[in-house]
Amino acid sequence: MIKALLFDMDGVLVDSEGISIDVGIDYYSSIGVHATRDAFRDALGCGERLFFDRSASILGLYGPPYSYESASDFFRSRYIAAIASRNIALPGIDIVERARKAGIMTAVASSAAPWKVEANLASAGLKRSDFDYIVTGEDIKRNKPEKDIYELAMIKLGVDCGESVVFEDSKGGIESGRRAGCRVVSMMTTIDGATAEAAGASAVISDLSAIPPFSTADELEAILFDGDSSTDRVRYGASMIRPLSRRMPQEFMERRAIEAARKAWENAYAPYSGFHVGAAVVSAATGRIYSGCNVENSSYGATICAERNAMTSAITAEGSLGIDMLVVYSEDEPPAPPCAMCLQMMAEFARPETLVLLVSTKAKEIRLSFSQLLPMPFVFPTMR
Ligand code: THU
Repeated sequence: MIKALLFDMDGVLVDSEGISIDVGIDYYSSIGVHATRDAFRDALGCGERLFFDRSASILGLYGPPYSYESASDFFRSRYIAAIASRNIALPGIDIVERARKAGIMTAVASSAAPWKVEANLASAGLKRSDFDYIVTGEDIKRNKPEKDIYELAMIKLGVDCGESVVFEDSKGGIESGRRAGCRVVSMMTTIDGATAEAAGASAVISDLSAIPPFSTADELEAILFDGDSSTDRVRYGASMIRPLSRRMPQEFMERRAIEAARKAWENAYAPYSGFHVGAAVVSAATGRIYSGCNVENSSYGATICAERNAMTSAITAEGSLGIDMLVVYSEDEPPAPPCAMCLQMMAEFARPETLVLLVSTKAKEIRLSFSQLLPMPFVFPTMR
């Protein structure tokens, strides 16, 4: 039975990892060193000390002009200035309030310094009193990926690891939660689903807004952890994909994908045909949703359909694709299906049973499987 939710802060409750990296790059440039975002990739989520010491060693800096103290001073003033004028709340942080209503305790367990936790909470419109307890990197000797932060949070809340669920977004953070014995739900705000599962996450979701409404601890348990647990690679067209072992409820994913397609539809560039199309694909490996709209061209043949734009966005972000669901959104009645060219592109990434949802602006829905639309797809012999 879930009694407590333990939230990492950066990348889970607030969208701050990108800002931290920007400020980190600025620090190195202030000491005459050129750093790229890659230098910080494994340095996230384990507190400021590791953030700088690890990135410095990746950059080959083991002494002056680098010092942790100078980096830390620079970081603090620049970070506070960077978030002062914006709201960095990530979607779905109302889960903190929803958990309380369901009788579940909540804590922040952040490896960051207290000043950063304070600044982040304020920028996200959260108060200390919204949580039952807050642990920061200064409350423990050994920071993440060690287990101490989560252990301390559980002691303070009076719960054990079987009753606690950790929400994390980085490899080090997932490890920390696992070492404390908790089940960890990973966001994909910072790492991809496959990396999160390899690091030990029990469930992977895109962000906190992927958690549908729940009114009891048991309902939340079912949403997060019930599902098939296969982690084998499965053929999606010409692609072998390891589908996410835990999934969000189907109806919820459908609503989110339809909304993504509708939003993309609003951006359709169709001054020639006046026929606006939006599309969304759900990635089987990560559960993430990618959208696209049709983009027409003065040379008509250069036009690209919404579905193909959605698929190329997914590939660009993840490097591979297995399609769990594809939504086409248009003003057509009955709702338009994908054209033959888009079906051929889908053949590369879809399973016969992949759901194709055709939706119109009048909210009419047609549900088909990919094999109903394209019963005999062509896949190149060496890729079958
Ligand atoms: N279109 C799509 O975006 N998807 C389809 O599957 C069918 C057609 C677009 C292309 C063009 O901009 C317009 O609709 C008319 O063909």
